[in-house]
Amino acid sequence: MSDAQDRAWEELSGRYLLPVERDAASTSVLPGSTVDPGAVFGRVAPLVVEIGSGQGHAIVHAAGAQPEVDFLAVEVFRAGLARTMLDADRAGVHNLRLVEANAPEVLEHLLPEGSVDEIWVFFPDPWHKAKHNKRRLIAPAFVPQVARALRDGGVLRLATDWEDYALQMRDVLSDADVFAADFEPDFEGEWAPRFAGRTMTAFERKGLAKGREIRDLAYRRLPRG
Ligand SMILES: C[S@@+](CC[C@H](N)C(=O)[O-])C[C@H]1O[C@@H](n2cnc3c(N)ncnc32)[C@H](O)[C@@H]1O
Repeated sequence: MSDAQDRAWEELSGRYLLPVERDAASTSVLPGSTVDPGAVFGRVAPLVVEIGSGQGHAIVHAAGAQPEVDFLAVEVFRAGLARTMLDADRAGVHNLRLVEANAPEVLEHLLPEGSVDEIWVFFPDPWHKAKHNKRRLIAPAFVPQVARALRDGGVLRLATDWEDYALQMRDVLSDADVFAADFEPDFEGEWAPRFAGRTMTAFERKGLAKGREIRDLAYRRLPRG
């Protein structure tokens, strides 16, 4: 990390970073160690979780634009979390917390069941070489994890600049009987319109510069039982 990021980590972690009880790995979450979002934010408000928040551009902007909503950034890349805290501090954002942990374990263990209003995954690592496809986050194993954390009627929003990953996302979510598409397809008749709350990030800019199209998807969690 840069000196500024080191300083941010030391000075701002106490305010922004959730303490996490670990299992074996340094970014793991100990099963059974759950946080209470109401206690974390000091109020009861809608909760949006961004997975793989990177440098935090999207979530800091969203938190500033919607002070009535609480935001949680989930990321394993410490320098990105430090950048996010610096920007949040500069922007005077109070409705944002960060967690340094592996996202599937956050969804399975850290967040109470049905506690999240929206989960965002924008530009997840594409793992575009065929032999690496199996490392992709949006895969069948991800469905029960997201479905657990989302409240009934909650929304999963996805975006990617890799067409074959977009197709995989759509296949995975279409096959999931706990989700229904939450958009009027208007892009080639198959994709959601660009989510108005999604800020342009470096990853989107890079994809566009390389001539790739951006595809958004949105799925609503169907009511339990
Ligand atoms: C391609 S970047 C996109 C970052 C950001 N969403 C954006 O659009 O700028 C993907 C991010 O996901 C993070 N990531 C990958 N796997 C993760 C996991 N299992 N849990 C949490 N974050 C993860 C990476 O560290 C990386 O910062």
